[in-house]
Amino acid sequence: MANFPKDFLWGAASSAFQIEGGWNADGKGMTVADYNSFKRSDKQADSKVASDFYHHWKEDISLMKEMGMKIYRFSISWARIIPDGDGEINQKGIEFYNNVIDELLKNDIIPFITLYHFDLPYALVEKYNGWENRKCAYAFEKYAKVCFEAFGNRVKWWQVHNEQNLMIRVDERMNINESDPWKADKIRAQMDYHMFLAHALAVNACHEMVKDGKIGPAVSSTCTYPLTNKPEDVWAAKMNDWFKTNYCLDMHYYGEYPGYYMRYLRERNIVPVMYSEDSELLKSAKIDFIAVNYYRTLCASYLPTDENHPIGMRVYRGNEVDFDQYGYCRDEKNSNLEASEYGAQIDPMGLRIVLNEYYSRYHLPLIITENGLGTPDILTEDGKVHDDYRIDYIREHLKAMSLAIEDGVELMGYCPWSVVDLLSSHQGFRKRYGFVYINREDMDLKDLKRIKKDSFYWYSNVIKTNGEEL
Ligand code: BG6
Repeated sequence: MANFPKDFLWGAASSAFQIEGGWNADGKGMTVADYNSFKRSDKQADSKVASDFYHHWKEDISLMKEMGMKIYRFSISWARIIPDGDGEINQKGIEFYNNVIDELLKNDIIPFITLYHFDLPYALVEKYNGWENRKCAYAFEKYAKVCFEAFGNRVKWWQVHNEQNLMIRVDERMNINESDPWKADKIRAQMDYHMFLAHALAVNACHEMVKDGKIGPAVSSTCTYPLTNKPEDVWAAKMNDWFKTNYCLDMHYYGEYPGYYMRYLRERNIVPVMYSEDSELLKSAKIDFIAVNYYRTLCASYLPTDENHPIGMRVYRGNEVDFDQYGYCRDEKNSNLEASEYGAQIDPMGLRIVLNEYYSRYHLPLIITENGLGTPDILTEDGKVHDDYRIDYIREHLKAMSLAIEDGVELMGYCPWSVVDLLSSHQGFRKRYGFVYINREDMDLKDLKRIKKDSFYWYSNVIKTNGEEL
């Protein structure tokens, strides 16, 4: 494999609530992510300590340097910068991220910042149920501007929301507490729209305030295969992709919902309140790249409506992100693919498909900001972690990326999930992703020692050889 560009950005990724800990240190406010993790804290790790990056950032950055990383994709916690979401600025929060950014730069690692990774300040939920209220978009704009002002002289790479298209499907993350599915979908549609407004405001602010700044969305990406070659199943597979990802990319790129999505909103009678002046704003915000988060592919068959299920109604069966949608699609298992023990259908070729699709549709540079295998790891008695399964997973995805580059895709970099072990959103520290083992269990903090896994040494060599040696 020799075709990774010379300046390819080899990196790794994380997010604030999953790695930092220090959940209320130095004035930080509580977030929706904290709130949700505390609900499960009798059974598994929460965000209070997580990987304790808040106190180990220097050590962790030196490990990043040792691994050879060129770029580090991480997120800023909005509630560390503005604890109540839209009020006073917390200088201690700015100071923390200043230290992290300066240390990265000192080590020749490019900081790549996500503004919002599932962690809305909880105060905004209490004030006006967060994204349901248009004010939330302006609160986000204010926060984004504070970040651009404070860090924009050193940080040129920015992401707005992490996986808006996935986040919006998870009631808990959006704080939707509505048992009536129609009402829940109505609130969801309004929240989604306000997040698009916030996205556009942040993109424009970045271009105005950050010299040479580049900004774009991170989407939860997948491609869906039809269960059979029946035309309805092929249509269903397309719809599954369109409803789970593509409508969102189109909105980011074109500044308007695609026709099928407007049709869905109308058929379901949940068209959000949109002001006429929004259209100009949404269209004016030009993204510089698309960041791809990719773990798995999906499979679908056609799901007809019936007397209890009107067209467009969504029903979640197996998990909280993959819905069936009446009149459109039903989520299916793909018998041709192996799944991880947590059910993700592993599919390197799917990544090649996704990269080609996005690039041919938008002709924007792409960067992968998440990809990885979540699984338990075993720390051996002599203090090693032999995670060859993780190496295999990443190697196969790198091969797929390399083929996509040969196909002509402009792929700028790769930031697998995750740099060190961190709090998995639903499985605490049982499910691990990192190149570095964090010595803690869900209910036992142990010594939080950093232990390099086999994948650390392997990835470091991949970087050193620019992908020649996989
Ligand atoms: C991505 C999220 O969708 O999936 C991450 O951006 C998350 O925050 C990752 O950790 C893996 O999912 P999980 O549920 O295994 O943590």
